[in-house]
Amino acid sequence: MLADFGLAKMADSGRKLTASGTVLGTPEYMSPEQGAGEPLGPPSDRYSFAVVAYEMLTGRVPFEAETPAAVLLSHINKAVPPTRELVGELSSHVEDALRKGLAKSPIERFGSASQFVAALTPAAWVHRERSDSIVLARPHQNGKSIRSMPSVLVVDDSAANRELIEACLADVECRVRLAGDGPSALAAIESSAPDLVLLDVQMPGMDGYTVCRRIKANPGLRLVPVVMITALDRSEDRVMALESGADDFMSKPVERLELVARVRSALRLKAVYDRLDSAEQVIFSLAAAVEAKDSYIERHTNRVAESARYLGSRMGLQEGDLDALYRGGIIHDIGKIGVPDAVLLKPGSLNADELVLMRAHPEIGENIVRPLRSGSDLLPIVRHHHEAWDGRGYPDGLRGTAIPLLARIVAVCDAFDALTNDRPYRSKMSEREALAVLTGGAGRQWDPDLISLFTCEIPAIHRLGAA
Ligand SMILES: [Fe+2]
Repeated sequence: MLADFGLAKMADSGRKLTASGTVLGTPEYMSPEQGAGEPLGPPSDRYSFAVVAYEMLTGRVPFEAETPAAVLLSHINKAVPPTRELVGELSSHVEDALRKGLAKSPIERFGSASQFVAALTPAAWVHRERSDSIVLARPHQNGKSIRSMPSVLVVDDSAANRELIEACLADVECRVRLAGDGPSALAAIESSAPDLVLLDVQMPGMDGYTVCRRIKANPGLRLVPVVMITALDRSEDRVMALESGADDFMSKPVERLELVARVRSALRLKAVYDRLDSAEQVIFSLAAAVEAKDSYIERHTNRVAESARYLGSRMGLQEGDLDALYRGGIIHDIGKIGVPDAVLLKPGSLNADELVLMRAHPEIGENIVRPLRSGSDLLPIVRHHHEAWDGRGYPDGLRGTAIPLLARIVAVCDAFDALTNDRPYRSKMSEREALAVLTGGAGRQWDPDLISLFTCEIPAIHRLGAA
């Protein structure tokens, strides 16, 4: 990065550009010594560099005030504000580096800009090799062996973007591999299939759509999730990405928390696929087909799965139940494959006959899932996710705690996600409206304790990218 933070200075001090005492520049980026009229030097520029880093990482400059003088005074007198925007394992590490970079005294700052950058770099990936070819970015993490960690292939023609994404993934337990163009990405996949591909769309030569189509055309790689990342944000680009077989789509600039949430979610889904027997793979593929059939529920099942699993974890449920919540969240509506499109996609309310067809989907789903060897823990979720707390739900009219707990959890997450997203028969509600609906239905439609818990956990569920 090249940045100029300096004041205008003329070679000949006798020829002043401005009147004596005039301050040129942006006070938000000036060092304390600059504000105090003291001699400037390289540490002053490094301070400004740290201000820029602080701004890039938190979205705000450290000191803001009504007047330039007040801003300058803050640089001199005020402590560096905590970086509340940074969350995750590395936030305190980053904050410590920023504090040192923004030290009031020049001698307490880093000795060079590269020392500052190195300090921002997490210890886990300082050994990285630098090359545009395929490299293993982080040899190990948390003492786990390389082979036991899922691998993520980042494909982008821009080295800066690859590094940015790699840095964002420092918190995710995975191996990051990098490729600078389509052909080398395909070669890397050929030599060892990754568990996730993060794929840039616009690349010289072979574009991301082509790379994605090639990956998905290979039966052995069909279940490797591909997330397209692009600066393009038109809906036709999104459609192009989905048509080329991409599993998900993200816009640049990449937001770290969102990327981490999507990557974790995709890797979890891939891990589930890897554990399934072939019959289950077919059924999970069918669940994806249901989703594809109805563009209104794109990513719906994944969001329900993520939030249900999270809610279960907050309730202290065992890993086996959490796994069932996740898998059940994905396939709970599989029975919709047996509901005619005219009913499934009908704008407006359903008549009595259509309602009967729609309400058959839990039982159809149960019949689809029953033959699975490992699907028995999913059956209660699939069959009972439309039961109501007051006994007026379907298919069995179960009441209160007679409704299996995992089905009650999925029901709440399913309802919230459905309310906050568009449906053929209505536009999406705001989060506040949706929560009002849930609260209004607590004790009638839904388990009241679960609604209270869900309401409290909304911020965390958002952070997961799950709702
Ligand atoms: Fe359903």
